[in-house]
Amino acid sequence: MRVVVGIGGGIAAYKSAELVRALQQRGHEVQVVLTRAAQEFIQPLTFAALTNRKVITGLFSEASQQDALSSAVEHIAVAQENDLLVVAPATADLLAKFAYGFADDFLSTLYLAFTGKVVLAPAMNTAMWEHSATQSNLEVLTRRGNSIIEPDEGWLACGTIGAGRLPDPEYIAERVSSLTRQKKDLEGEFILITAGPTQEPIDPVRFISNRSSGKMGYALAESAAKRGAHVVLISGPVNIPAPKNVELIAIHTANEMRNAVLENLAQSTIIIKNAAVADYYVADVPRQKLKKTAARLSLQLDPTPDILAEVGQRKGDRLLIGFAAETQNLLEEARRKMNSKQCDMVVANLVGQDGVGFESDWNEVDIITRSGQTVHAGPAGKKEIAERILDQIATLRLSLRAVDTPA
Ligand code: CTP
Repeated sequence: MRVVVGIGGGIAAYKSAELVRALQQRGHEVQVVLTRAAQEFIQPLTFAALTNRKVITGLFSEASQQDALSSAVEHIAVAQENDLLVVAPATADLLAKFAYGFADDFLSTLYLAFTGKVVLAPAMNTAMWEHSATQSNLEVLTRRGNSIIEPDEGWLACGTIGAGRLPDPEYIAERVSSLTRQKKDLEGEFILITAGPTQEPIDPVRFISNRSSGKMGYALAESAAKRGAHVVLISGPVNIPAPKNVELIAIHTANEMRNAVLENLAQSTIIIKNAAVADYYVADVPRQKLKKTAARLSLQLDPTPDILAEVGQRKGDRLLIGFAAETQNLLEEARRKMNSKQCDMVVANLVGQDGVGFESDWNEVDIITRSGQTVHAGPAGKKEIAERILDQIATLRLSLRAVDTPA
């Protein structure tokens, strides 16, 4: 796994060199980021020598004029290239910045851009640790899905005894490793995932579409492949790279998506219909561009095929998972769709709120199964939400197998 170690400005920063070694000994590739305050306690050179790569020390560190542009987007590249961010020591100041979404240095900016797992190992004076401001920041971060490694109790650098000491680097490295150990619970499954929007042409240069970014479906595809499944991703036009180890089929219209789904249905064992499929299309697209006139223009729209409902009728013993993006009556609508489209599970999310759902890196969902169980996930990064959805799918798969297998 590729791990970023973010180091805050506390006396415990000296232990971070050992943490880097402990992570490397467990097979992780490590990129170090030092805050300005951390550099008062420990030199970048120590980490450059340990990792044999450039240590990041600021938003525009070492930027010559030629590479100023690449430096300006370095936090995005680091966020995309790494699987886990561990911040040790996480100072009270860093916890506050993360909780409130400040982005005034490299580490806090990276935190916002990071969609993988985040582990925070706070270390500070006992009074600062126990202060209600720090504790309420921790509450926000925990709710967000960040893993917190609680500080140890003992002698602190300030000469007092109490909670606030950074735990042993070996212990932190072990916790990080256990989070990165890849589950292979979807081995043997053939998973068909649809993602992104569809584009329905109205003439040779224009189309009707929607705001879906494809991020949720791509995160599901990437995680399912990592968890051992063979994944076919049928995607409408999006601006994100294809996940590794996934078979990508690019389509534009709802009809093309339907054909691609039906062609791959026979081999599939699980179908996840995450795409935001257009409900209407223009059946007779003119060959020439529509010309502007002073008159009002009406478009004749026909319903697209409901792919999920069609798959529901032919699904056999495959698991079928639908999505329901709603602006109101979330659970009621999700249950209605589960029944009318014969899904085994529906992932419901409210859209039209700020910061989560369409176009965002964040999401908050309710995962509802046919048996009536509802699991709430988020708000969290879409990669984390994808893991939670796949956890529920793997559990449902196991419980259905147990019912099928006579004792
Ligand atoms: N879906 C589909 N084919 C369509 C429309 C939707 O397969 N033509 C799937 C979506 O991929 C999603 C689920 O149906 O998994 C629900 O989509 P949504 O747009 O929320 O629901 P609709 O059935 O279109 O209902 P409504 O527009 O009334 O909310």
